[in-house]
Amino acid sequence: MPELYKNYPMDTGVRVFWMKINLNTNWKFATDNFSESYHTRTAHPQVPPWIDQDVDTARHEMYPAGHGRTVQPMRPSLSDRLPDGVPHPFDHILRQWDIDPDSYPDYETKAMQGWLDLKAAKRRLWRERGYLHYEHMDDEQITDSPHTVIFPNVTISFLPDNILFFRTEPHADDPGKCTFDLWCMAFPVAGQTEVESIMAGPQPFSEADMLWRDFDNGRGVPEIEGQIVYQDMMLAEGMQRGMHSRGYGDAYLSAQETRVRYFHEVLNDYLAGRR
Ligand SMILES: [Fe+2]
Repeated sequence: MPELYKNYPMDTGVRVFWMKINLNTNWKFATDNFSESYHTRTAHPQVPPWIDQDVDTARHEMYPAGHGRTVQPMRPSLSDRLPDGVPHPFDHILRQWDIDPDSYPDYETKAMQGWLDLKAAKRRLWRERGYLHYEHMDDEQITDSPHTVIFPNVTISFLPDNILFFRTEPHADDPGKCTFDLWCMAFPVAGQTEVESIMAGPQPFSEADMLWRDFDNGRGVPEIEGQIVYQDMMLAEGMQRGMHSRGYGDAYLSAQETRVRYFHEVLNDYLAGRR
């Protein structure tokens, strides 16, 4: 992991949002959730317009000892499109880097060529715009998101301007409960006093205090209502209840959930004393 991510100046990141949440679900929900993007188009309809998590475009990787990652291009999905006429988040990103989104003949060209043009524009302008954390990033890192699970309970999502840290820890006695740590970190950019934290909305660029909450079916965390992780936690508690249903037998995993299966296989190896 240190070798994979040596280009990110981790020591300059500032934790702009910090929350610890008591959840009514097993700690493994987070690794399950962060090991596949199959649920994204249903659970997170706000994501596909700016991060392409389609199974054929995102790159899934598995490493020895249970680690894995999905490298997601940060460009619009070609299968989940916003309706015509709706303001598009990718247009805003292109304009930020002096690219005219209306210069492309169609949606596909804007998504694919615009993404390449964005890489070139960032390469050209990073220093004068104060994006000093781009200095050592490669062509993938400068626009995309390697979303990384470190076995068994840590996920770090690397984005060009942000690092998201997620961790669950088991409850001491109750396998139906856990705590979930959410850290949103941002790299400093000259002149920026407010940053988009990705998982908690806009935040002042300064070190945050820790908030410790009960999720309480969403009522305990109004600061992140409707955010991606909020949607995941709603799903996770519902799934935990579903696993106690008399109608539930076992999970049926699709091909694009292979990393979920791998996580449980490695975990089962440990429990069986094979590792
Ligand atoms: Fe999710």
